[in-house]
Amino acid sequence: MTPGARIQAAIELLDRISEGAPAEKALTTWARGARYAGSGDRAAVRDHVFQALRCWRSYACIGGGETGRARMIGALRSAKVDPDTFFTGAGHAPEPLSADERSAGTVPLGAAACDLPDWLWDAFRVSLKDRAETAAQMLRERAPVMLRVNQARASRDQVIRSLAQDDVKAEPQPIAKNALLVTHGARKVARSRAYLEGLAELQDGSGQAAMEGINLTDAQSVLDYCAGGGGKALALAARAQAEIYAHDIDPARMQDLPERAARAGARVATLETSALASKAPYSIVLCDAPCSGSGTWRRAPEAKWRLTPERLAELTEIQAGILREASHLVAPEGRLIYATCSVLRDENEDRIDAFLDSAPEWALRKMQRFDVSEAGDGFFVAHMARKDKIAQF
Ligand SMILES: C[S@@+](CC[C@H](N)C(=O)[O-])C[C@H]1O[C@@H](n2cnc3c(N)ncnc32)[C@H](O)[C@@H]1O
Repeated sequence: MTPGARIQAAIELLDRISEGAPAEKALTTWARGARYAGSGDRAAVRDHVFQALRCWRSYACIGGGETGRARMIGALRSAKVDPDTFFTGAGHAPEPLSADERSAGTVPLGAAACDLPDWLWDAFRVSLKDRAETAAQMLRERAPVMLRVNQARASRDQVIRSLAQDDVKAEPQPIAKNALLVTHGARKVARSRAYLEGLAELQDGSGQAAMEGINLTDAQSVLDYCAGGGGKALALAARAQAEIYAHDIDPARMQDLPERAARAGARVATLETSALASKAPYSIVLCDAPCSGSGTWRRAPEAKWRLTPERLAELTEIQAGILREASHLVAPEGRLIYATCSVLRDENEDRIDAFLDSAPEWALRKMQRFDVSEAGDGFFVAHMARKDKIAQF
């Protein structure tokens, strides 16, 4: 496909997404029908679509309309590329710009310039104060690809050397001890020997740093209460002598975990909800709670346009319930750890305040916020222990 044809494909996909199609589904359906598209074409079209989703509002302003075509005009103008270069009408490229299109377009301001819905731009400012704009701007960029070196199996240098043999370049990233930033060959990581042999896992830098901040000395058991795919449980298992248990309300989400754990040489036992009590109490219960994902929107940019105040309120209810349930599973001298990949106060500090108000035997011991950065997504973690006990972990 020519560069112009790739833009035309992105235009059509953006229109489908505007009509309500989920981006991944729209891309898969398109790729299935586009037999002429090679892997490079598919990757380029995907990049156009995801970048337009990150900058949905500002590209519409700059391009002068809410259509896929206007957004791609906006994308090119934003990148200081003259749309005429690609809107030629030749082959499968988009038709040349009309006179109206040439004169359309405005400079985005405020929430539009930050590519957030108005209500979320307000919530960002309340939550992040003078860091709100930087965070919003970071969410308009592509996310870094980060790896966690599996310290139980290899050193950082061994992993860097092994990746290099598969044409993947990675360098240490100071956000976490085992973090590597992939600087070349990101698409080859999943086929690299280091990855396939469990020497490294794909994991965001902030999540890694938050897991490193959990003191595991003398912990006998750790429960990852909202384990999902088990990324956090695996990060803890690489450092711990303790028994590591993984649980999720939806056990299907953990289906790949035994295989991932075996590849990493880690021991993680999955537990059904009905089995939680049989292993309780746990020295540490980690609740990596379901959330808006606002710290990760550069990876999943559709979510920032689909989130509503009602859904956010529902999520905070779920988070409150999880904290309440999980707190009963913690050993007397143990620690309750709450985390989200959100930057919003409602899901973070406000949840902790509400929990501590409703459960006065608990006290906050440590709280960390990780901003959206070149090294990691936005992330929040709070460590709590019972007031009358000296927390050991
Ligand atoms: C943010 S994700 C976890 C990500 C995971 N820790 C990781 O590192 O890959 C949140 C998970 O919480 C689960 N969940 C939702 N409500 C829950 C509940 N009431 N109890 C336990 N897990 C719940 C969801 O199914 C989802 O897999």
